[in-house]
Amino acid sequence: MSIPESQRDALRQAAIDISQKAWCPYSGFAVGAALLAVDGRIFSGCNVENASYGLTVCAERNAIGQAVAAGCREFQALLIFTATQQPTTPCGACRQVITEFAPDIDVISVCDGPNEIQVSMRELLPRSFGPHNFDQTSRLTE
Ligand code: THU
Repeated sequence: MSIPESQRDALRQAAIDISQKAWCPYSGFAVGAALLAVDGRIFSGCNVENASYGLTVCAERNAIGQAVAAGCREFQALLIFTATQQPTTPCGACRQVITEFAPDIDVISVCDGPNEIQVSMRELLPRSFGPHNFDQTSRLTE
């Protein structure tokens, strides 16, 4: 389901703004992610790298963390911004983490170039492992 243009614009701006806060001295690849909650709130995150490279946390996972810490676990859409010529879709680890809370949302990837990608989480991570495998999905809304 597509979101209204105004909300998409707000997500894009939030993702651009937070990408400028990215800590990415090793890759030089800044990422901003903005999540639209069902209640209209927007939560955003940037990538935070570490000198011990493997401890890097992606923008998408930081956005999810911000939302969950604020008590929000239901989302409508996720927008990812990179200041590149081609859009970037979430890495495999982030696909798993997004699926935990939002297995059906649309993911919109935008960049400095004209190309955009809009794709569903089901398409990004088909046949996923998730809360349904425990048959206790209610714990997501507790
Ligand atoms: N990165 C993200 O933040 N999100 C993605 O979906 C792909 C990769 C970050 C991790 C690292 O800081 C940099 O981009 C290069 O991999």
